[in-house]
Amino acid sequence: MADISFFSGERIPLELHKVRIVQKLDLVPIERRLEAISEAGNNTFLLQNKDIFLDMLTDSGVNAMSDKQLAAMMICDDSYAGSATFTRLTEKLTEIFGMDYFLPAHQGRACENILAMSLVKTGNIIPMNYHFTTTKAHITRMGGRVEELLIDEGIKTTSVHPFKGNFDLAKLKALIERVGAENIPFIRLESGTNLIGGQPFSLENAKAVCAMAHEHGILTVLDASLLQDNLYFIKTRESACKDMSVRQITRELADQMDIIYFSARKLGFARGGGICIRSKKLCDSMRELVPMFEGFLTYGGMSVREIEAMTVGLEETMDMDIISQGPQFIQYMCEQLIKNGVPVVTPPGGLGCHLNASEFIPQVPQNQYPAGALAAAVYLAGGIRGMERGTLSEQREEDGTEHMSSVELLRLALPRRVFTLSQVKYAIDRITWLYQYRNMIGGLKFVEEPSSLRFFFGRLEPIGDWQTELVHQFRKDFGTSL
Ligand code: F0G
Repeated sequence: MADISFFSGERIPLELHKVRIVQKLDLVPIERRLEAISEAGNNTFLLQNKDIFLDMLTDSGVNAMSDKQLAAMMICDDSYAGSATFTRLTEKLTEIFGMDYFLPAHQGRACENILAMSLVKTGNIIPMNYHFTTTKAHITRMGGRVEELLIDEGIKTTSVHPFKGNFDLAKLKALIERVGAENIPFIRLESGTNLIGGQPFSLENAKAVCAMAHEHGILTVLDASLLQDNLYFIKTRESACKDMSVRQITRELADQMDIIYFSARKLGFARGGGICIRSKKLCDSMRELVPMFEGFLTYGGMSVREIEAMTVGLEETMDMDIISQGPQFIQYMCEQLIKNGVPVVTPPGGLGCHLNASEFIPQVPQNQYPAGALAAAVYLAGGIRGMERGTLSEQREEDGTEHMSSVELLRLALPRRVFTLSQVKYAIDRITWLYQYRNMIGGLKFVEEPSSLRFFFGRLEPIGDWQTELVHQFRKDFGTSL
């Protein structure tokens, strides 16, 4: 990682890349934004991209590719079986993770489907530091149950703990004793723990978790989708690892695992996914699901162009200059917002900047979806699309009551190498403006609520006319500005 100071003393992240291809963006007036968010049922997933200025919904499949990735996409072997492109990918994965077997899948959740179908049985318990939406859905679909064993500090939105994604080892030990190792098919470790704000675990903690698992004959599974951010944090925050290379850290972590799966929409800056497996026996037990649900074993539903890009992207993930960019921009955004009094999740993690909706708009109760309301308000204020990560993203209990999320966050993802610093400054400016008028923001209520994955398809409306009032205030303060 380059250490670059400014003569002015200002602390800003400096891009170690240049922009070679650009995409024009539109910023539509706030009056249109009001129409657009209402057409989208106040659900940012349902907004049209033409109405969005900064798309901070996700970092999934929207990271900027490098010149080397684009070049690699031109030379690929598009054969159904035995593709040389696929061989290049498996060799790179074996080199990086040290596992001999690999099953391709079209994206991360497809890996989860394969893992759940082959490993999870009714009544099984799957311990993990924290759940991810698709992971939990696949496990519960097979009759399993997720147990979250995060350290208590992990769900504290304001903290200085460097590794909020760590497992609580005492909780893990107690769980194994209580339910019995025979009911735990695997322990899942999620790197860059998504739903708590892209927070990492330490290498030391991962090693301890895996040692305990193996002592009891339990398999260890790493969700490496957000591994690149986690690697950056291990290197910069874990003193025992500061002299290790990213490659060494990766291998030491991988050596603890029986299975590593990932969404290549995140890891490797491409689109696709796959499962690396240590043992042939385990691989054979899952193998037939790939041609059945994904595609033949040498493409697994992925385009060969994406496979080539992924191979190069995985190599680039071993470069600290490259993987620093995301976390450094996020840190900048968080620090500036904190200076302006805006509540964000600390310490800054990977993936994006996470606004704490419970503190931003404490007047909105959880059953009126504060994180969803804030997502609509931030879109109105700046044409910025974020993702609700709170009660709206949860499923109702079987008796129909709300399952209140432990945190109410608005995630503003920073897809890697996509936004410039002035765009990030614009986002900070509009969010800071909104914070001055936070008391005006009200809640949302469902008008159409699907029984599953309601956060994707559900439609809501504002409770009261707070959105129109916000538009009037914007015009007063910004005049004719977009
Ligand atoms: N695991 C983690 C930790 C993820 O963040 C994701 C996706 C998946 C698995 C599933 O992968 O999308 O390729 O099927 N996260 C995306 C996001 C959707 O926006 O955070 P996928």
